[in-house]
Amino acid sequence: HRERVRSVLNASQLLPVITINDPDDAVPLCRALFEGGIAVMEITLRTEHGLEAIRQVRDALPDVWVGAGTVTSLSEYRQAEAVGAQFIVTPGVTEALLDFALTAQSPLLPGVSTASEIMLGYSLGYREFKFFPAEVAGGVSALKAFAGPFKEAVFCPTGGIRRETARGYLALHNVLAVGGSWLTPAEAVARKDWASITEMAVASLADVNG
Ligand code: 3PG
Repeated sequence: HRERVRSVLNASQLLPVITINDPDDAVPLCRALFEGGIAVMEITLRTEHGLEAIRQVRDALPDVWVGAGTVTSLSEYRQAEAVGAQFIVTPGVTEALLDFALTAQSPLLPGVSTASEIMLGYSLGYREFKFFPAEVAGGVSALKAFAGPFKEAVFCPTGGIRRETARGYLALHNVLAVGGSWLTPAEAVARKDWASITEMAVASLADVNG
C-alpha cells in the first residue's frame, strides 16, 4: 500500500483537484492537463458525475493516473475502486477508512490537519498524507512544525493553494506534491477552453520549477 501511494506523490509535483459539472468535460479536461505536463489528477465525488468521469478517463487516457477525491465513506471507496480509481483521497480520517485501505485494491492518501490525526495514521503504518485544508490549517508553518515530531511523514497540501503559493510548499522537504483546484479554473472549464487549461498547467509547472 505504502509504496503505491508514495509513487502517486512522486509522479507529479502538482495534483489538480477536479470537480466535474458536465460529464462531457472529463476527458477533454484531463487530456488538456496531460498535454500541459501533468499526469496525475484527482476527480472529486463532489458531483454526481465524479464516478462516471473517472471511468471515462481511465478508458480514454491510459497514460493518465486518475484518483478519486472527496471520498468520505467505505461505500464511496468501493465505488471508486470499481470504476478504476488508481488512488483514493479523503479530506479527513476515520479508523474504519484507514483500516479498510490497508488491504484495499487502490491505495489511500488520507487527509489530516492535526498532530492527533497524523498519530492515528502513523499508528497504522501511514506515512503519506494529504494536508487539508492547508491554508487555514496553518500552511507552510504547520508543515514545518509537523517535521519535528513526524520525521517520516510526507504531505500533499491542498486547500486554498494557488499557483503563486505552490512553490513555497514544495520547497519543504516533507512536501512531495501540492494539490488544488486553481489548475482547473471554473470559468475556463465552463467555456470549454481546454487550451487555457493546458497553458495553466505549463505555467504552474514552470513556476514551481523556475
Ligand atoms: C481539496 O479537496 O483538496 C480542496 O478542496 C482543493 O482546494 P482548493 O479548491 O482550495 O484548491
